Amino acid sequence: MGSPAIAILGTGAYAPGKVLTNDDLSRMVDTSHEWIFTRTGICERRIAGEGETTSFMAAAAARAAMADAGVAPADIDLIIVATVTPDMPMPATACFVQELLGVPPPAASFDVNAACSGFLYALDTAWALLASGRYRHALVIGAEKLSSAVNWKDRATCVLFGDGAGAVVLGPARGTAEVLGVRLYAEGGHASLLCIPGGGSLAPDPSAHPEGPQHSIAMKGREIFKIAVRGMEQATRDILARHGLTSDQISCVIPHQANLRIIHALAQYLGLPHDRLFVNLERYGNTSAASIPLALDEARRAGRIRPGDLTLLVAFGAGLTYGSALVRW
Ligand code: ACO
Repeated sequence: MGSPAIAILGTGAYAPGKVLTNDDLSRMVDTSHEWIFTRTGICERRIAGEGETTSFMAAAAARAAMADAGVAPADIDLIIVATVTPDMPMPATACFVQELLGVPPPAASFDVNAACSGFLYALDTAWALLASGRYRHALVIGAEKLSSAVNWKDRATCVLFGDGAGAVVLGPARGTAEVLGVRLYAEGGHASLLCIPGGGSLAPDPSAHPEGPQHSIAMKGREIFKIAVRGMEQATRDILARHGLTSDQISCVIPHQANLRIIHALAQYLGLPHDRLFVNLERYGNTSAASIPLALDEARRAGRIRPGDLTLLVAFGAGLTYGSALVRW
């Protein structure tokens, strides 16, 4: 007997109200709208306020997804939050989200750290746990407060990132939005290309480091660019081959929203016209694990995904990690 069909029953998103434009950034560091826009496609990003913690944004997105799915907190028995900006190192942000949502025990709640691929890692984990029959409804959330992890004096990174959250409810298929499969990859040999070096057990006191604060994002952008395109292409080709599909059958691609040039390079290698891509990074920047579920929710609400459509979700991130997922709506 095969696994039961598992589907996305609802989607939701949350973005903070505060907008930080490229022009605002040009008054903070030596940069310009022209440089940021032509190199990345980003125009503005959202910045969380004091009360807008990662768990707060995650819970807001989850509430919207539960309303969309027509499920109540008591129906949820699994919560996975993908994030690299947890409220605290311990406990998991998912436990705070459980409390904020009023999801009663027993409900397994934990975080996943796979950076910008985190939502796909969480989706695959939830999918497998639901397919095992041991859980019925999962909240799969990507939420980030990257403004807390950025060095606001480093123009090479601070212009790229933003805050936000997106969520899906995963459960037994009701005839639509079946998750056909997920493929995940990691290349740990490239870990140093993108990391937050301090603040963990390796360097518990980041301020003590002779080269200055080590608790913000450090990145080798050019190297990542190449691996990102190659990794996402491989993840796409592998998953299509596994399901006997071709790229021209994909109606909508929801790529990780890091850089428009990366997204267009991927489209070129896959032979996909740009109108098949859903892009919202001009308004949010790179929201890491939140990027795909935030874009997925917007794409649905914008009517970009119709019944029967084949949607590809594809991401890359620190690790380096990358992955893909296929959903038949
Ligand atoms: N404003 C103006 N100039 C800048 C800025 C800025 N904000 N940032 C860098 N520069 C300068 C550099 O100093 C450099 O100057 P130089 O030539 O005098 O040395 C020049 O611009 C070119 O810099 P590069 O880094 O080579 O620029 P590049 O074209 O590679 O674009 C970018 C940089 C946008 C970061 C690109 O490499 C990229 O998008 N890479 C992928 C990074 C990524 O997606 N990271 C997120 C991963 S997801 C996750 O897990 C968080």
